[in-house]
Amino acid sequence: MYLIEVKDVSKIFRLYKKAPGLIGAIRSVFSRKYTDFHAISHISLHIEEGELVGFIGPNGAGKTTTLKILSGLLYPSTGSIQVGGYTPFERKPDFLKKISLVMGQKNQLWWDLPPMESFLLNKEIYQIPKKEFEDTLRELTDLLDVKEILNIQVRNLSLGERMKCELIAQLLHNPRILFLDEPTIGLDVIMQKKLREFIREYNKKYNATIILTSHYMDDVKELCKRVIVIDHGQLLFDGALSEVIKKYSQKKLLSITFSRPYPLNELKKWGEIIFHTDQQVNLEVERDKSNIVAAQLLKEYDIVDLNIEEPPIEEIIRSLFSEKKSI
Ligand SMILES: Nc1ncnc2c1ncn2[C@@H]1O[C@H](COP(=O)(O)OP(=O)(O)O)[C@@H](O)[C@H]1O
Ligand SMILES: [Mg+2]
Repeated sequence: MYLIEVKDVSKIFRLYKKAPGLIGAIRSVFSRKYTDFHAISHISLHIEEGELVGFIGPNGAGKTTTLKILSGLLYPSTGSIQVGGYTPFERKPDFLKKISLVMGQKNQLWWDLPPMESFLLNKEIYQIPKKEFEDTLRELTDLLDVKEILNIQVRNLSLGERMKCELIAQLLHNPRILFLDEPTIGLDVIMQKKLREFIREYNKKYNATIILTSHYMDDVKELCKRVIVIDHGQLLFDGALSEVIKKYSQKKLLSITFSRPYPLNELKKWGEIIFHTDQQVNLEVERDKSNIVAAQLLKEYDIVDLNIEEPPIEEIIRSLFSEKKSI
């Protein structure tokens, strides 16, 4: 029995077409033309308690839609879902107490009030006992280092401060299942790092199960052993991040240091030069030829050092998505 179980889930949005103007509006009452759009197609996956899973894919891939389905904000068109023993879209109070959906792009705090007011409102909504509320609040404000700003109007906070308060508001009921949708979007590098540490800590401390979507591969690289890749609503990959590299990368990177000036143009016949200085060249070569090319280079040139490396994961993911799109 898995904590989260998604079986063959699709989400179809029906998009109605309407001719412009009043006549169009009247006509559309009698004959409504529509197209069906598959935001998610036949997704199946399961997640165990305590896992921290990265959910990646380009814009419009269906990440947010999936998280909304998992948290019960949207119902699936087909397929079945269990989260923590509940059917999400029934939105039972006990289910809602177990989960939280945090959206980096959507502000759920009261704009004109200090964060503390929103926290107190959530205390009532989730019926959190006073002592528990105070303890959790103290712990979260400590962890996120925001004690000083709890009484400042949300509109006057920085993006990073707001995001931290957003997290606190969504975590006060101490949910053990978190859906984090782009939690670090728009934040500066230091703040991204802090949030990452917090997410890691929360996962460890409560054995919380977390699904995280992000534009930033760094988030996923640092936090998640397992990644799920989707594109155009379809699941492309589910497994270890290192496997993504093995499966999708056609190339390897030779990083070469020469002992003296070398003929740059000549090297082009071996692969693509993606970086070079007076003595250093990074050469991208076909994966299955990398050993032969390396041996050949060592034979022909004065080389001090040669390393065969995997290309950066960002590059692999980028090329994976652009290939898919051109199909
Ligand atoms: N309520 C909706 N009605 C119609 N189309 C939608 C709706 N919500 C999302 N979509 C479409 O579904 C696709 C997936 O969206 P989304 O899940 O937000 O992608 P992602 O979060 O991966 O960027 C997009 O093409 C989006 O335009
Ligand atoms: Mg999204």
